[in-house]
Amino acid sequence: MTRAISLHNVSKTYGRTTRAVDRLSLSVDPGEFVVLLGPSGCGKSTVLRMIAGLEEITEGELLLDGEHANDLAPGERGMAMVFQNFALYPSMTNRANIGFPLKLENPGLDHTDRVEHTARMLGIETVLDRYPGQLSGGERQRVAMGRAISRRPSVFLMDEPLSNLDAKLRNHLRAEIAHLTRELGVTTVYVTHDQAEAMSLGDRVAVMRGGQLQQVSPPREVYALPENVFVAAFIGTPRINLLQAVVHAPLEGRMSIDLGRQRLPLPEPLSPDHQLLRIQQGRRLIVGLRSEAARIAPPSQARPGEVALSGIVEHVEYQGHEALVHLNTGSRPAVVPELESARPGRAAPRRRRTGHGGGVGVLERLKERTIGYIGGPTVALDEPVPENDPSAPRGPDRPAITAADLVVRTGPDMRLRTGGQVPLLVDLAHLYVFDHHGRRICPLPEEVPGLDV
Ligand SMILES: Nc1ncnc2c1ncn2[C@@H]1O[C@H](COP(=O)(O)OP(=O)(O)O)[C@@H](O)[C@H]1O
Ligand SMILES: [Mg+2]
Repeated sequence: MTRAISLHNVSKTYGRTTRAVDRLSLSVDPGEFVVLLGPSGCGKSTVLRMIAGLEEITEGELLLDGEHANDLAPGERGMAMVFQNFALYPSMTNRANIGFPLKLENPGLDHTDRVEHTARMLGIETVLDRYPGQLSGGERQRVAMGRAISRRPSVFLMDEPLSNLDAKLRNHLRAEIAHLTRELGVTTVYVTHDQAEAMSLGDRVAVMRGGQLQQVSPPREVYALPENVFVAAFIGTPRINLLQAVVHAPLEGRMSIDLGRQRLPLPEPLSPDHQLLRIQQGRRLIVGLRSEAARIAPPSQARPGEVALSGIVEHVEYQGHEALVHLNTGSRPAVVPELESARPGRAAPRRRRTGHGGGVGVLERLKERTIGYIGGPTVALDEPVPENDPSAPRGPDRPAITAADLVVRTGPDMRLRTGGQVPLLVDLAHLYVFDHHGRRICPLPEEVPGLDV
């Protein structure tokens, strides 16, 4: 038996002020695997603990199979939970650990078959008669999982169960969890701050930020159609390139997106996805380009839908099967500050902020400016929009720019010289634009946002 879980406008307030979860609504179908994803402190564990009954719901309603369940005791919910810091009984064999919940439930019965079946599913049948202390971290976590699933729970709740393991083991167990939960067909809610884990495990991914749900979609959709700039920035490695931009829509001639030193011309007639850009002209926007949205190639090789840019190579990050080229295109990055600490940033050396004191060139100072994306659902854009500065020195007199603003994927064999200029082709089909609230306006959202701005 597996259950449907439904949260309706659920909030959790700790004390008077900490609103850990804010009016969250989410429905999980029977047998579905939903991942709660978000940076540390965004309320993921709190949601999970409210589902488990370990935390009281301050406001809103929890339904299990359509029935009000706010006040159901944890033991009555038929759920099993696995935590990051799994606790096994050190003085019991692994066999006894796995069988422990069964024994509690039915002390008189022989549970050998069930325990061994569970162990086989997890690939730990050979270590059953050892003690937890004699196992590796990965094996121990499997025993913990075995203990959780041996009872055949109707819901599986997992809170960062792989965080304490090394990367290789994590990937391995990740695949096993995906396999196992599908095989068992048990409704699963899985918490993680690791977007790669979320993408590879979930039927759907629920992205949270500051206690609020941002988007719930299948992995492909959160990647391809992020509803806002936070989701776009949180999902995908390397992180999506986010650039400050302004749309130009002259009465005559083509519309373009001004990225600072360069412009992206938009093809006429305007594609449906670019329709909302016209009414945003002159406003501060954020352009998002994933690293695969641009390629290093001359304008003569442009395919339909590709437009030319150029960039200076700052740094090449060789990855074996590909390389990440960090370029400077003369644009200004837009920053989502809370993500700067949530995930390690790009590997390229970042120029240290030098302050605005003496000796810093105009262009360098421009580089310092960033769009802040601070708190709440809005983007604070407190910097003036700079005009394209025709007096900015070009050519050999141009001050050295050391900050990359665009990361592009290439094949591993492309020979690139640091400091050299390369031509780029940007695929407009992979162009994202977010308005100054951070909402996606290109590709066209399903529901066109109120165009109040
Ligand atoms: N027992 C508690 N008392 C007070 N504040 C708490 C408690 N548990 C969590 N919080 C706060 O609630 C917020 C969400 O926490 P949590 O759900 O643990 O986040 P996550 O699991 O996403 O890292 C955080 O700001 C955290 O400090
Ligand atoms: Mg947590």
